Amino acid sequence: MEMLITADDLRTRIDRMAGEIARAYAGRPVTAVGILTGCVVFMADLIRRIDLPLRVAFLTASSYRGTATAPGQLVIRDDFLPDLTGRHVLVLDDILDTGKTLTRVVAHLVDRGAESVKVGVLLRKIGRQEVPFEPDFVGFTIPDKFVVGYGLDYNDEYRHLPYVGVLPAGG
Ligand code: IMP
Ligand code: MG
Repeated sequence: MEMLITADDLRTRIDRMAGEIARAYAGRPVTAVGILTGCVVFMADLIRRIDLPLRVAFLTASSYRGTATAPGQLVIRDDFLPDLTGRHVLVLDDILDTGKTLTRVVAHLVDRGAESVKVGVLLRKIGRQEVPFEPDFVGFTIPDKFVVGYGLDYNDEYRHLPYVGVLPAGG
């Protein structure tokens, strides 16, 4: 596996991101909403460094390509989400690729009554975005390669790797 971002680089950058987030909210309480499952490693490391009153919540957003739904249709499940009315929400995801997932999730959380919604992503792939969307906090900008590790998967594997690597062609 070709190493793209080392564990050391992840630690250093996520430390800084936590500071950027704390400064942006200036002491206001935040509800961090992670998009499962890709968010988990990044989110666990990030939130422990954010010096703010903070709640933690999750939702799932999956593109089903089965016969029952239209191709690529995004299904959001938020059964475990607390009441977000009046709350400042920080959505956390592993990667911004086409931008479709985050666009839909932000709209969904606004519908759920969030007072504000900001977005933090560990990675942003260049040259892939299909819908206009600007994340508020970005860890690293990466080239258009399929990456795994540190939460990111291929067929649900490799999420546990402590670094971000480029998957060799052919899986
Ligand atoms: P988007 O809706 O196209 O922005 O897709 C975002 C989702 O696609 C992410 O949350 C990931 O689950 C997945 N994804 C996109 N690029 C990669 C990659 O390089 N490796 C692993 N997952 C990826
Ligand atoms: Mg994924």
